[in-house]
Amino acid sequence: MNQSIRLDVNPMMAEYVGPRGIARADLDALVPELKRAHAAVEAGRGKDMQGWMDLPYNQEEVVADIEATAAKVREEFDAFVVLGIGGSALGPAAVQAALNHLHYNELPAEKRGAPKLYVEDNIDPERMAALMDVIDLSKTCFNVITKSGGTAETMSQYLIVTEALKAACGDDWKRHILITTSASKGFLIKIAQREGFKTFYIPDGVGGRFSELCPVGLLAAAVCNIDIRAMLEGAKDMDERCKTDEVFANPALLDAGLMLLAMNKGANMSVMMPYADSLKLMADWYAQLWAESLGKNVTLDGQPCNAGQTPIKTLGVTDQHSQLQLYTEGPFDKVITFLKVEKFRATTPIPHGCDDIPTIAFLGGKSHNQLIEAERQGTQYALYKAQRMCQIITLPEVNAYTVGQLMYFFELVTAYTGALLNINTFNQPGVEESKVAAYAVMGYDSEVHTAKREEMKNRPAEKAEYIL
Ligand code: PA5
Repeated sequence: MNQSIRLDVNPMMAEYVGPRGIARADLDALVPELKRAHAAVEAGRGKDMQGWMDLPYNQEEVVADIEATAAKVREEFDAFVVLGIGGSALGPAAVQAALNHLHYNELPAEKRGAPKLYVEDNIDPERMAALMDVIDLSKTCFNVITKSGGTAETMSQYLIVTEALKAACGDDWKRHILITTSASKGFLIKIAQREGFKTFYIPDGVGGRFSELCPVGLLAAAVCNIDIRAMLEGAKDMDERCKTDEVFANPALLDAGLMLLAMNKGANMSVMMPYADSLKLMADWYAQLWAESLGKNVTLDGQPCNAGQTPIKTLGVTDQHSQLQLYTEGPFDKVITFLKVEKFRATTPIPHGCDDIPTIAFLGGKSHNQLIEAERQGTQYALYKAQRMCQIITLPEVNAYTVGQLMYFFELVTAYTGALLNINTFNQPGVEESKVAAYAVMGYDSEVHTAKREEMKNRPAEKAEYIL
């Protein structure tokens, strides 16, 4: 079976969906811009913040080290906990959900064949206590992941965990910590060197949301027996497919062009709708990639803009029963992307029964595999009738190779779209602002944070009448 993922944009086009869709003439007119965007992304390959484009090619040694470490972790520990947030957590969680059993942690240890995985990406005060209730510290390995090496959420988790480990494991505690961080920036690398923790590096040119295919994502995946070489192979093959600037041969470039034209027509929301529980968290991962990369208020030439398209995470068929009504009859402000799976890893036949009720008896002898795809097609048809723009990305199967292709595809679409919008795709000043402000609120006394505290006082006084 050909394992290449496929993009079908028929339902994006006016030829198919009517005048609310993209006119072919508009797409044709955009081709020179698309070629320019392609050239700009290619010119940046491997440079500045585009180190992620090298990851499918330059990690032989890293992968060997990750695999050896993962084998050791599997031997020594029952639980593997990722401490990270944003780009340091969404990828590992999405890949684990996609490629392992849907109830992985609840499987008996022999069936899992690897430690349980927890991705702790929040600091809800109840969360760490809840984690401690379900893990045995003496059999748990923590992977502290932060590119900047100073993110308050992750580093506070680090402090909590190290104290707990010292109490539970005594002198042996350092064996329970693996670090993934920048080799050149931040405090975590200094801590790691001081304590002698085993450390993996996030290359300088790989930002958080583009980091799944470096040790950020690969280590947790390898620990859980995911074939990380196949993931990288998938990414490489997608990269090769997209080296051409022929729009109808490069799926990521075509997609970027259509998303830009859709935005220009007022479609300022991108609904990601996987029809597979395994891909549910892929929509979360995509949401960060798309939102944080494209949501910018200034162009590369310094012109003000308010670029971006709001990502919406959904799940088929579940959200047919909650959001589809809006998508079919609400504002014409969305593009819906279906993630379709051709061959699921299980077949669930529907038994015969209820013979006296024809509409239910009719289901007998069919399968959930048929039903989920029929429902997806039904939703696609309802959206077509309502003249909504959609596209379908088909994964022949959900496996490490197709997931590698899919994630790299979205990374490229994001990079091309950022180039089309003429923005900096790879920074996140809005996030940085919130980080500084949070430290200021916490009372940190550096020059920057003290100034931020003062600046924050300049907000208008809150009126009691608006607080009920
Ligand atoms: O994409 C990004 O750069 C961010 O979302 C980061 O991943 C997130 O803020 C966490 O940062 P760090 O990895 O430095 O802890």
